[in-house]
Amino acid sequence: MKEKLTAFPEVAFHNTNLYNVDGHGTYPATDQGLREFTGKPEDMGRYRAPTLRNITVTAPYMHDGSIATLSEVLDHYAAGGRASAHGTGPGPFQSEFVRGFTLTGQEKQDVLAFLESLTDPEFLTDPRFSDPFASTP
Ligand code: HEM
Repeated sequence: MKEKLTAFPEVAFHNTNLYNVDGHGTYPATDQGLREFTGKPEDMGRYRAPTLRNITVTAPYMHDGSIATLSEVLDHYAAGGRASAHGTGPGPFQSEFVRGFTLTGQEKQDVLAFLESLTDPEFLTDPRFSDPFASTP
């Protein structure tokens, strides 16, 4: 089977510790991610990782648009999740891949430059993918 060729079983939904409203890893009642569909407690706050292609032109970020800039997205991950930055600590459902890290100012600029490099102006301005309902001048 295909999954036998990978080191880790594919986990398509992740909890990045964006919220922890009660110290037990709970996300706001309006947006609880995969849990809303499965009813499983461990699916709290788990969302699909979106593509980073053209990420510079799609602010604000995250499922609820609660992060305004890519610089603040990096702050979220550097803190091991925004909830940790707000003092609630790691959530019980938080992905093991979101552990926090430190970046120098230069390293942060380098990551932002990398994300910028994923912008594809040719695709973005291709008339074939333009809004068919936009009024033409
Ligand atoms: C430093 C490395 C990372 C960068 C620069 C990064 C960047 C981003 C950005 C820009 C978004 C917002 C996308 C959007 O709103 O369209 C995002 C969302 C997301 N990323 Fe990451 N990411 C990183 C690491 C990770 C890791 C390690 C995971 C796996 C656990 C992950 C899983 C997700 C998920 C599930 C979302 C959606 C979260 C939500 O909507 O609440 N990311 N990431």
